Amino acid sequence: LRLSPHPPARSSPVPRKLFGEIRSPSYPKPYPNNNVSTWDIHVPKGYVVKLTFKYFDLEPSESCFYDYVKVSDKKNLGRYCGQLGSTTGSHPGTKEFVSRGNRMHLEFHSDFSNEDNGTVIPYRGFLAYYRAVDLDECDPNNAAEKDERPRCQHFCHNYVGGYFCSCRTGYQLQSDHHSCKGKLEF
Ligand SMILES: *[C@@H]1O[C@H](CO)[C@@H](O)[C@H](O)[C@H]1NC(C)=O
Repeated sequence: LRLSPHPPARSSPVPRKLFGEIRSPSYPKPYPNNNVSTWDIHVPKGYVVKLTFKYFDLEPSESCFYDYVKVSDKKNLGRYCGQLGSTTGSHPGTKEFVSRGNRMHLEFHSDFSNEDNGTVIPYRGFLAYYRAVDLDECDPNNAAEKDERPRCQHFCHNYVGGYFCSCRTGYQLQSDHHSCKGKLEF
């Protein structure tokens, strides 16, 4: 469970699974007023989180000021609201969110106006699916995290959930499992 600087009223640690779904409060019924809900998706190390919204229907507003869902990993991945085809707001559509690292965080906010407002049909919220996807540590685009050891000096081999290093002929992998040293020949 990640602690946010301003702990929300309700936080749901999502169990460490390889896939799952996340629903806004009361989904598929309209979401309650003045609600703040957060979810921490945590997948095993060596994986990243991929998430897509299967259904999304939040009150549209300029800059998603009123009702919104915020997606983040260590950084903000975006703030979304609206309906498919709405001109105001920002609908996530079929966008696939990919985390840097093995965590993703969702934050849902609603204002006072969704329930029983009598005039418009209330918004139903969202349904999202996530899955753990193997992180290819050997791909140079997946830059090593600061707190991780440097990459393989010679060869990198990815496997599901991790990677290992090897060395060119005549070199030996050192006890740090990353660097290679030439064998001395006499
Ligand atoms: C948000 O909705 C959920 C589900 O209905 C509820 O358990 C929670 O207490 C609500 N939180 C707030 C701050 O209203």
